[in-house]
Amino acid sequence: MNILLIGSGGREHALAWKLAQSPLCTRLFACPGNPGIAAHAELVDLTIEDHAAVVAFCEERRIGLVVIGPEAPLVDGLADSLRSAGVPVFGPGKAAAQLEGSKAFTKELCERHNIPTAGFVRVTSEAQGLAALDAFAIPVVIKADGLAAGKGVTVAMSRAEAEQAVREIFSGRFGAAGAEAVIEEFMEGEEVSFFAITDGHTVVPFGSAQDHKRVGDGDVGPNTGGMGAYSPARVLTPLLEGETLERIIAPTVRGLADEGTPYSGVLFAGLMLTNQGVKLIEYNCRFGDPECQVLMLRYEGDLAELLLATAENRLATLPPPRFSDNAALTVVIAASGYPGAPAQGGEIGALAKAEAEGAKVFHAGTAMDGGRLVSKGGRVLNVTASGQSVGAAQKIAYHAINKIDFNDGFFRHDIGWREVEREAKE
Ligand code: AMP
Ligand code: GLY
Repeated sequence: MNILLIGSGGREHALAWKLAQSPLCTRLFACPGNPGIAAHAELVDLTIEDHAAVVAFCEERRIGLVVIGPEAPLVDGLADSLRSAGVPVFGPGKAAAQLEGSKAFTKELCERHNIPTAGFVRVTSEAQGLAALDAFAIPVVIKADGLAAGKGVTVAMSRAEAEQAVREIFSGRFGAAGAEAVIEEFMEGEEVSFFAITDGHTVVPFGSAQDHKRVGDGDVGPNTGGMGAYSPARVLTPLLEGETLERIIAPTVRGLADEGTPYSGVLFAGLMLTNQGVKLIEYNCRFGDPECQVLMLRYEGDLAELLLATAENRLATLPPPRFSDNAALTVVIAASGYPGAPAQGGEIGALAKAEAEGAKVFHAGTAMDGGRLVSKGGRVLNVTASGQSVGAAQKIAYHAINKIDFNDGFFRHDIGWREVEREAKE
């Protein structure tokens, strides 16, 4: 079978690496891909927004499965265009991708199906937003409704900050994503990510992870797309995982199917472990980046087989996904200036030396410039390792990082700290 993978980040490099290992995979194409992905796939230059061009490519190359990595093409309905043309695709259609594309959509789904989440109101104007704040204690959380590249959320520590966040959203800072907003009650607890794969009927758990969103050591500084992650997140105990599946994931999948917008793909649930049980923070309609990198290092099954079975509505015919007992950890190397204006074009070298330490280096924002590998983007490399504990994986990843030549890069030195601290107490 020929496979087309859409995307160009570290998440897609990890997916390409795993897909290429599948005996089912004859030729792997990636669009647009990156130099790391090019080691496993033939890169193709298509305009992803031009659905007819993507469909035509799939027909020409007899593509038997399309895997869509990022949220934007999913929210844009690329999966619908492919399905209509008879091309099997891993990822939800436009209607179900609203789970990520609209915060209000998800909150109202939760309300209809009694899914535990923070109390909220949906507001459509600045005046309404400012007035709604009266009903909330501080801290309070203000969210632009649509996709805002992770920048649309403010956890306001004062009324003034909350008002400022509301004004900013309705001033047009987030474009169409800020036409509406959601104001939410602040939830206290530890955050954890949980993944489930579903074809709209069958649901299978696909592992847990913990991300590090702040740019600096000790979780300080601005939010990023994620500076590192580890898996499994044992803080989500088997009991809590069961609660998550039963009270959050299953009613979501059932609810969407009953409402005529069945969800097919991976559900990425951001969870808060609160004193009142597990609550949903948000859904994403794709794998996490960099959470996917650690999941792929631990996943022991045939990824192409799993994603194809999901695309073809026959997930129930497969055994449940198997994962290594080992932990995996990934450290993001970002270009200096990230998440603001990252320095571009810095030369990168000695990746083979890092891999000789036992790590796997996934490419995110890299490019070839002549014969040189250079940075192109905010998050540049994901140095990923596995070990018998998160601490053991962490040691390998940081040894490997120290071998890499990339003067313009920086990384956090404490990825995995919560779990490494817990392990030290065992
Ligand atoms: P989101 O994009 O909805 O995941 O929000 C980004 C981050 O804001 C989350 O990872 C949490 O750290 C924080 N956050 C979002 N909603 C809440 C909430 N209701 N209570 C506490 N923290 C939140
Ligand atoms: N690392 C968080 C995300 O992929 O949304």
